[in-house]
Amino acid sequence: MHEHLKEILLSEGKIKSRVRELGEMITNDYFNEEIVLIGIMKGAIIFYSDLAREIQGRVTMDFMAISSYGASTKSSGVVKIVKDLDKDIMNKHVIIVEDIIDSGLTLSFLKENMLSRGARTLRLCVLLDKVERRSVPIDVDYCGFTIPDEFVVGYGLDYAENYRNLPYVGILRPEIYKNNA
Ligand code: IMP
Ligand code: MG
Repeated sequence: MHEHLKEILLSEGKIKSRVRELGEMITNDYFNEEIVLIGIMKGAIIFYSDLAREIQGRVTMDFMAISSYGASTKSSGVVKIVKDLDKDIMNKHVIIVEDIIDSGLTLSFLKENMLSRGARTLRLCVLLDKVERRSVPIDVDYCGFTIPDEFVVGYGLDYAENYRNLPYVGILRPEIYKNNA
């Protein structure tokens, strides 16, 4: 385990089997319809690339990058598009793939934004859900794990751009971020 972590919350094996289940659900729900899988960079990219390979059917890929917390652990509530989609999503079946939902501000912004572009259907898929922290009501269609209100890193999730490459999800030791939160 990385020395900056308090504990490992989700092991590699646990994540892998849950991602497989999510892929099967999506495969069954969309049957033979084309899906545009939209990954939210950078946090979701590891989850995204594993999930995409567990979906059988017609998938096209696109990505969006939005402004993040910076070196803090609290949501700013301000969402800025840093990189937009490459392709039009008018009349498409869209699934937004995100690493984690916390207050819900990011995903509710993204949801409205995608709907305003004329997506035919829109669903949300998140690896992690901190349910207790929700400040705006929002339904998640595919959720990997519900987790407690702790700051987590790994499997794509970062603190100040670090730890994204850890193959598991762990709880960051508070002393690592306490002077910056
Ligand atoms: P929300 O807008 O408050 O729902 O925040 C969602 C975003 O906050 C995610 O895309 C993450 O980038 C970030 N975030 C929230 N909680 C954590 C965490 O525990 N670790 C790493 N990033 C987090
Ligand atoms: Mg993020």
